[in-house]
Amino acid sequence: MKLFKRTLFAAAALAVMGCAADTAGTASTAKAAASEADKELMSAAQGVFKPLPTFEEMQKVRQVTPEQIKLGQALFYDPRLSADQQQSCNTCHNLATYGVDNQSFSKGVAGGFGGRNAPSVLNSSLFVAQFWDGRAKDVEEQAGGPMLNPAEMAMPNEAAVEEVLRLIPGYKAMFDAAFPGQQQSITFQNATAAIGAFERTLLTPTRFDSYLRGDASALTAAEKAGLKKFMDVGCTACHMGTGLGGEGYFKFGLVQGPYWKFTGSKKPDDGRFEVTKSEDDKNVFRSPGLRNVARTYPYFHDGSVWDLEKAVDIMGQAQLGAKMSADDVKSITAFLNALTGDVPEAARTMPILPAAGPRTPHPEHHK
Ligand code: HEC
Ligand code: HEC
Repeated sequence: MKLFKRTLFAAAALAVMGCAADTAGTASTAKAAASEADKELMSAAQGVFKPLPTFEEMQKVRQVTPEQIKLGQALFYDPRLSADQQQSCNTCHNLATYGVDNQSFSKGVAGGFGGRNAPSVLNSSLFVAQFWDGRAKDVEEQAGGPMLNPAEMAMPNEAAVEEVLRLIPGYKAMFDAAFPGQQQSITFQNATAAIGAFERTLLTPTRFDSYLRGDASALTAAEKAGLKKFMDVGCTACHMGTGLGGEGYFKFGLVQGPYWKFTGSKKPDDGRFEVTKSEDDKNVFRSPGLRNVARTYPYFHDGSVWDLEKAVDIMGQAQLGAKMSADDVKSITAFLNALTGDVPEAARTMPILPAAGPRTPHPEHHK
């Protein structure tokens, strides 16, 4: 980073000197300096961020089959995995709205609200762990949570989920194809593995990925300025890598706190403390990834802030102890807007779900 700053400074100084010496050469010298700065910026960015993995690279992390992905997609959209048969994963992680419901808190089956904002399922398979407090190790483990969570899909237990699936006739062939050679392929574990396989396809490439692969023209000048600001002020300490976040745990309110002074949150959240019971983990959260962040409002673990510029301003103060100028906040936000990608069309197309059979259980109604 130091080297990067020094070179930029030298380039700027050269441009100034060129200007004083002869006006005729100014334009070309400035241009050369600008393209030198451009190159420096790209290589600095390549040192901190990574483009999205290809399908082949993803397969190396975890081998999944087309049949598992297809089954997982059906399960993701199937409301029969919830106690009232009205709520699917897609209800709260709507793929038409970038994998979120754009609400501070989501309404579960029983009508109650959970205490945390629904993060996007897009690109989340890349993160070091799942949930705001990292309590599930990967998307496969995570997928079991919401079905049994009383504040979400509220199924009484794993066996109840299996029973519903076993009594929807069309699922048998789909599970057999996804998990061949198993006597009883319809299990809770296979269902969560299939959902995980589907979630691993939810990657959203952007112009920023083209930029990281070497296409300097993929970002506008304003977006590059924002990228540079993002790195210079130190956002990259916690938002780096492929996901621009999701790689570690940090206290919200690290430099200036408590965080609710900035967010106006009504109910403080202990965060990772609930998992580890260690005092050091009070108000610690896994940093969220920033891909598609312009579309995944409201922000923070409790959806307390709706405006992206405000969220950026809060980050500067709470995490870096710096009150940024309005221009800097706008500039960083311009860069964040370039992180909105393409949700794969196949994934956001709702599949036709297998029909209920005569013995498919009817929904349990809650008061
Ligand atoms: C009632 C709304 C609701 C439903 C239905 C729901 N979720 Fe979630 N989901 C949430 C909330 C809220 C969180 C955050 C909870 C937390 O961190 O404590 C979450 C977190 C996640 C995460 C973690 C993402 C990250 O960045 O860590 C994934 C992945 C996920 N859900 C997938 C699913 C899948 C798969 C299903 C269906 C089996 C599902 N969800 C059903 C609300 C919902
Ligand atoms: C010390 C680590 C750290 C630094 C530095 C940091 N962040 Fe964050 N960021 C986090 C954590 C942790 C959260 C989640 C806080 C919460 O909701 O509890 C977060 C949340 C966010 C969010 C909200 C995302 C969402 O989906 O809700 C945005 C936007 C964001 N950061 C942008 C930035 C920007 C821009 C900078 C630089 C000005 C920055 N962050 C610096 C750790 C950090």
